[in-house]
Amino acid sequence: MAYAKETTCVQGSNDGTDCYGAVSYPIYLSATYAHPALGETTGYAYGRVANPTRDQLQKTVALLEHGEEALAFSTGMAAITAVFDLFESGDHIIATDDIYGGTLRLWDSLGKKNGLEVSSVDTTDLKKLEAAVRPNTKAIFLETPSNPMMKVTDIRGAAEIAKAHDCVLIVDNTFLSPYFQQPLDLGADIVVHSGTKYLGGHNDVLAGFTVTRDAELGERLKYVYKTTGASLSPMDSWLVLRGIKTLAIRMEQHQKNALAIAEWLKTQPKVREVYYIGLEDRPDKELIDRQCSGYGGMISFRVDSRKTVEEVLKKVKLIRFAESLGGVESLLTFPAEQTHREVPEKLRKKLGVDDTLLRLSVGIENSNDLIADLEQALEERES
Ligand SMILES: Cc1ncc(COP(=O)(O)O)c(C=O)c1O
Repeated sequence: MAYAKETTCVQGSNDGTDCYGAVSYPIYLSATYAHPALGETTGYAYGRVANPTRDQLQKTVALLEHGEEALAFSTGMAAITAVFDLFESGDHIIATDDIYGGTLRLWDSLGKKNGLEVSSVDTTDLKKLEAAVRPNTKAIFLETPSNPMMKVTDIRGAAEIAKAHDCVLIVDNTFLSPYFQQPLDLGADIVVHSGTKYLGGHNDVLAGFTVTRDAELGERLKYVYKTTGASLSPMDSWLVLRGIKTLAIRMEQHQKNALAIAEWLKTQPKVREVYYIGLEDRPDKELIDRQCSGYGGMISFRVDSRKTVEEVLKKVKLIRFAESLGGVESLLTFPAEQTHREVPEKLRKKLGVDDTLLRLSVGIENSNDLIADLEQALEERES
């Protein structure tokens, strides 16, 4: 029986495989597993390939994403690297231009070395996306909403283009989590995650995921997984499993706070622009409401000057000036010098990721306290 997502978050796969009936799934630290006899197995042989705690987590993430198979990696970048290992020298990949800087660095360095060609395209414009397809295009990689400009790509529309050109559609679903967006249902072939963010949810663990529905694609990824070996440790698997138990209520609170803060930011004299997918006046509102069941907790905003950026980063007290996102604690990031520092300056400026842009990962604290903190940070001080 399929349960509602809130129930799946709490109960996970709940397949009763623990012989003592443990309600919190045990952490199996064993690196290797004894076989009953030659040709017989308990289902486990060696921890890099499979581990019972990690299996519970993988089954839970697969259920949440409506996939068949999930693989848990040591970081989000390890998961994305494994996906890129599916392709060969000479293959061409189209990717969202506004994207996490680490992903861009991956294909600018290792991708190039391995002969992959990647085109950065404004995938929110499906005409531009289709025009970028070449005879050797093998994949389309979307980040939606994108990092940090919160641009939204039509996943179903991109899936149609991918199918028509025999390409694999990959979606980085980190920003909304499966609680608010399920790309496989919209036609994607592979979902990737930085599990470090909303899935883990507490800024205390690094993790990554791939999720697939197609068995052949799942097998190919599993081969890369066991060969390259960036599997998630049993302890970290348990931390993410525990984090997911509260994913539903966390996402609701992130969103509630973000809606209040985004509206408040819009009224601030030093704030020039607010980028949040939950704002009513977005031109792509109809698409957002069609493909996402919520808006999440990520906001970017532009202030009047670099001086204001410097002051805000210095003056915030409750909100911490730090990289990362998706945890219960609110974090403020300066993309131009942190997450997107290595994006070529020309592309960064074109996208609007300049020295007046800040990114806020809204936590689950009280929104009045967060607003008060931002207010005092944005306040003009007598000098
Ligand atoms: C959208 C997105 N994808 C992937 C990653 C990489 O994940 P990790 O830091 O867990 O390697 C990040 C990291 O910030 C991210 O923001």
